[in-house]
Amino acid sequence: MSTVLRDKDILHVKDIKLEHISLVMDTAARYESVLQSGGHLTNMVGKILATLFYEPSTQTRLSFETAMLRMGGQVVSVADAQVSSSAVKGETLYDVGKLLQGYADVAVIRHRHEGSAQELANGAGIPIINGGDGAGQHPTQSLMDVYTIQKECGRLNNLNVTIAGDLKNGRAAHSLAWLLGKFGPRFHFVSPEELRMPVEITEALRGEGIEIVESSDLIAAVAKSDVLYMNRVQKERFTQPEDYERLKSVYQVDAALIDQARHGMTIMHPLPRAGELSRDVDEMEGAAYFRQAYNGVPIRMALLALVTGNE
Ligand code: NCD
Repeated sequence: MSTVLRDKDILHVKDIKLEHISLVMDTAARYESVLQSGGHLTNMVGKILATLFYEPSTQTRLSFETAMLRMGGQVVSVADAQVSSSAVKGETLYDVGKLLQGYADVAVIRHRHEGSAQELANGAGIPIINGGDGAGQHPTQSLMDVYTIQKECGRLNNLNVTIAGDLKNGRAAHSLAWLLGKFGPRFHFVSPEELRMPVEITEALRGEGIEIVESSDLIAAVAKSDVLYMNRVQKERFTQPEDYERLKSVYQVDAALIDQARHGMTIMHPLPRAGELSRDVDEMEGAAYFRQAYNGVPIRMALLALVTGNE
């Protein structure tokens, strides 16, 4: 039993240390093998997870709720919280945090504002997990991404990794860059000029000695990569619809493009896809994105159990 993450909020990947990553991955692997052998877990019996989704989600919400149920816990939920919760009456996230602690043992929030998970955590006396805050962070996504890379590539160190698409607004891309940066990768950040990775992230990584090649040339990047992490252009972050229309289709990952990639490249995507990843890739050898989505369940099981001290 480890107390390293007990009572901790999971808000930003900057707070996730190497020892946390191995603890979460080891715990997830243990749970995954129980599930795959048809076993049952009861470590969260009597515990309640609250899911507060102020922004749309399929995978993140379902995988958190599945994770809790698979450990014998229960879930209370506000879906469509932006329209169905007291947010419409002016309720602050700080106050939601205050009342949450009387209802649940742990909570997950997704919200369109950067910093929203922190605001909820400021009020709450229970662990808060950031399920995506605007164009900011998505720490649990990057933990499942790293877990997926370990499983698919057999290692995390010294990989050539292309992160491509809307790197300005994609929180999954931001979190993965921070987290994978701990393992000494060679990064290729591929995007149109207007959608480049925030300079705050590239500067910090370069300061750590990470080699980063920034370009708009996806074919050149995949020819050298062990992993391609593709992202959709984040429609909901654009203020001008015509900008989105102009940029939404700049990249198209299809079987023809993958044929030009390094042999055996692992292809990942946080999903949902919105035209930048063709279905003709789905049956290709390296296509890992649906396995990646599945990995969200054991990783989120591990996180829920570890922050509540019930692993
Ligand atoms: C991502 C998100 O919401 O940031 N989706 C997810 O959680 N799997 C990526 C995206 O929406 O593009």
